[in-house]
Amino acid sequence: MMIDHSISWQALQAHVQEDFSLQKLFQQDPQRFSRFSVQDCGLLLDYSKNRITEKTMELLVALAKEAGVDQGISDMFGGKRINTTENRAVLHTALRAYPEDVFMMDGCDVVQGVHRVLDHMEDFTHKVRSGLWTGFTGKKICDVVNIGIGGSDLGPKMVTEALSFYQDKNIRFHFVSNIDATHIVRILEQVQAETTLFIIASKTFTTQETLTNAHTARHWFLAQGASQGDIAKHFVALSTNEQAVRDFGIDPDNMFAFWDWVGGRYSLWSAIGLSIALSIGMDNFRELLSGARDMDLHFKSTPLDKNIPVILALLGVWYRNFWGFASHAVLPYDQYLEYFPRYLQQADMESNGKAVTKDGQEVSYATGPILWGEPGTNGQHAFYQLLHQGTTIVPCDFLVAATPLHNVGDHHQVLLANFLAQTEALMCGRTLAEVQQELACLPAQEANALAIHKVFPGNRPSNSIIYDRLTPRTLGSLIAMYEHKIFVQGLIWQINSYDQMGVELGKKLATTLLNELQTGKIGAHDSSTTGLVRYLLDRPEASH
Ligand code: F6P
Repeated sequence: MMIDHSISWQALQAHVQEDFSLQKLFQQDPQRFSRFSVQDCGLLLDYSKNRITEKTMELLVALAKEAGVDQGISDMFGGKRINTTENRAVLHTALRAYPEDVFMMDGCDVVQGVHRVLDHMEDFTHKVRSGLWTGFTGKKICDVVNIGIGGSDLGPKMVTEALSFYQDKNIRFHFVSNIDATHIVRILEQVQAETTLFIIASKTFTTQETLTNAHTARHWFLAQGASQGDIAKHFVALSTNEQAVRDFGIDPDNMFAFWDWVGGRYSLWSAIGLSIALSIGMDNFRELLSGARDMDLHFKSTPLDKNIPVILALLGVWYRNFWGFASHAVLPYDQYLEYFPRYLQQADMESNGKAVTKDGQEVSYATGPILWGEPGTNGQHAFYQLLHQGTTIVPCDFLVAATPLHNVGDHHQVLLANFLAQTEALMCGRTLAEVQQELACLPAQEANALAIHKVFPGNRPSNSIIYDRLTPRTLGSLIAMYEHKIFVQGLIWQINSYDQMGVELGKKLATTLLNELQTGKIGAHDSSTTGLVRYLLDRPEASH
């Protein structure tokens, strides 16, 4: 049965017709904040500024139950092959397990293998950071270049930036992902071959962008006077594909392994996090894992109505399916989280951008929203105009640290005040009567003409997520919170959140088109594609 035929879905459809004026709801219930907020894992989630009542939450929890969320959670943690199209288990939670924890997969505990790789990472990280690991001229490594794309780039890059406060300042970190040569060229201009470590990060080790960039890096490295034998000191691989790593010329001793039950966009906790470990040290990396484990335990053991990822997921479903809001903004009031929305875009949109249920039926309801965002306060001077007065309603998550990492003047108080002001303004808005009162000092005609432009409709929903300080542990919890939110939404929408078939077609067509651009022989296409290829080929500088 499609979930939109369930009793709770139908009840929610009727319920959404009720009055959800937030200002009224706050006036009616002085306990609204405590009723709709929850604290755990060092986080406070205030979800009271949402278009909900107790009945809404009851119905949404009933929906989660009807969708089998409890069973889904135990299937995931139990190592069942819930990624059905790829016939794989989904066990990124095992990557943050303590040695005494047990994660069974096909009758075997995977935790020991996880810790073997962590120990390998620890040994390597110690050598590089301490200077025991040297480049081909005997000098210490001072630049690390991670070459990867998608999950093999966005997670490590986001966390390395987010935790740069804890970073070894003697090593610089660079991330190359784009096939556009500009990306790698500009980074190679900044580094010296003798002191640079290249990390080739690719789960499959077949990704066109990553392998092309890796070959360019190796070619550049050898052109700087290094020999083939020096490659072992400067190139390491993070992958599940040992043969392809060998074929590339990297010694398997310099390969950090992981497993097919780790999805690319859930892989920063695995060997894919090597750049993070090199940046913040292994103790901090383990703290990051512990923070995620804290959230895993919360998620696994907390009743649905108090469960942070479940609440966030249900609110997302409420807006997407019952209000028709198509996008969701993540707005960190934390400059360190600059890349967090971009990272979440892949986590969320590659996971839940699906239109077919697990058992192969086209869905008759909306699934994953468009996720986007930028740090505050920058966003306030860019797109918040639309959030406040535009015709599209965008539910927002605001994230902020209670305690700053840099206590400079009154910066943090101002930042906090802005965060609070935005959530309040979105919720309360400003009525015509309030505006008219404010404009009373102007001539009547002028005031009347202006007033309507200054009205804010309000009633725009947001979540506020406050963490104490941005530590590795807090960040681990925050990321895991969103991972589990995405998982719960996938369960409700009955889709497979763990494959990514939607990226295949473009890759296949690009292979054909590359051949056409290189040979000048154009195949059968629509007139637009043919016209574009011909335009590119007919240019005097075309070199096919
Ligand atoms: O974009 C598709 C994708 O498969 C992502 O899911 C993945 O994170 C990325 O490509 C990179 O894949 P790999 O780590 O195998 O190079």
